[in-house]
Amino acid sequence: MIRKSTSENKLIKSAVKAMKNSHSPHSKFKVGAALLSSKGNIYIGTNIEFDAYSLTVCAERSALFSAISNGEKSFTKIVIVTNSHKFKFPCGLCRQALIEFNPEMEIILLNNNNKSRKIILKELLPEYFKL
Ligand code: THU
Repeated sequence: MIRKSTSENKLIKSAVKAMKNSHSPHSKFKVGAALLSSKGNIYIGTNIEFDAYSLTVCAERSALFSAISNGEKSFTKIVIVTNSHKFKFPCGLCRQALIEFNPEMEIILLNNNNKSRKIILKELLPEYFKL
């Protein structure tokens, strides 16, 4: 097994903590995200569902919105954890939102069994839209 760095462990713990706050009364699918900025700060997010279903916000964008609101613009890694035993990849909207800040961003997917898988964001969204 690959040894995880201290900062990566901290990022994972933050994502798991965020997942516990998931507001997902409709899908019961819990997601937590922890985004690491180039300055070394961590921003967490969780998925938020509404009775008006289309208002739902994913955990990844929730974390991104918080980071941007705090003045950050550069990110190196994101941990995404769910309550599923399968690795769940970020949706298309979140791929696009994140890639506009760093196509080289490292994505660490974590399942409910603490197993992880790594991928680089641009591999998930080649030829993405950019102004
Ligand atoms: N969800 C995320 O939080 N991130 C994704 O990338 C895909 C889906 C959430 C939205 C919704 O609350 C639940 O998962 C089921 O779609």
